[in-house]
Amino acid sequence: MSSTTPLHGCFVTGTDTEIGKTRVSAALLHWFAQSDLRSAGFKPVSAGTDVIDGLRVNGDVRALREAGSLALTDAEVGPLQFEAACAPHIAAALEGRAIDRATILSAVRALAARADMLVVEGVGGFCVPLGADWDTADLAVELGLPVVLVVGLRLGCISHALLTAEAIRARGLRLAGWVGNRVVRDMPWADENVATLREWLWQRHDAPCLGVVPWLANPHPAAVAAHLDAATVQAVFASSPAAFST
Ligand SMILES: Nc1ncnc2c1ncn2[C@@H]1O[C@H](COP(=O)(O)OP(=O)(O)O)[C@@H](O)[C@H]1O
Ligand SMILES: [Mg+2]
Repeated sequence: MSSTTPLHGCFVTGTDTEIGKTRVSAALLHWFAQSDLRSAGFKPVSAGTDVIDGLRVNGDVRALREAGSLALTDAEVGPLQFEAACAPHIAAALEGRAIDRATILSAVRALAARADMLVVEGVGGFCVPLGADWDTADLAVELGLPVVLVVGLRLGCISHALLTAEAIRARGLRLAGWVGNRVVRDMPWADENVATLREWLWQRHDAPCLGVVPWLANPHPAAVAAHLDAATVQAVFASSPAAFST
């Protein structure tokens, strides 16, 4: 992305929708805030709005806004929010709108000028269409941030994780690390799945595990952040000039 202000932070993707990207993104924002960094969440495109505090807003946008340490508006965190809870290009078409690249890029530049660390949450999985000729992977490339992969721990997640890691590499991006998230409360062989993911994502993609989050009755940002691996998160983001200067 051509911009005078370089971006620092990460692009959070997942093995699927509803697997914990927002919870992990909020935890990372909380983590950075606790490290005295100005953290800002960004949800470039969202589909599905609710009435929250009397305002129509996407739930992810509100969660990211509340988890970051910069005071931001819903519109700054989520510049393109569509009402229907479906694939974003369909939600946009239902409103006769397009998902405008320039809107996203100018919004992210505005945040980059104010934040030390941006946590950008993708939509759904890694390759979600945003229009006729571009998808969320193209957006990630445009932003150029290292990618954090959230793996929703359930049957099938190993292949989904490895496929996503391959797609990230094929786009020339760096998989900075991955987070295992226990979205299913009683997944059989969860520890064995995590062990396999650790080995394969490290051997094939040099991607360390940034934490394994258990099923939590209330997965609020601090509770999820408590399960991130402090040393690994710090090491992964230490190369970002804005990070951990204190
Ligand atoms: N570790 C967890 N323990 C319990 N519930 C979780 C956990 N992670 C996510 N959830 C719940 O699963 C649902 C999907 O999580 P979310 O972060 O919104 O996923 P995504 O952003 O990938 O769509 C939410 O209701 C969330 O509260
Ligand atoms: Mg989400």
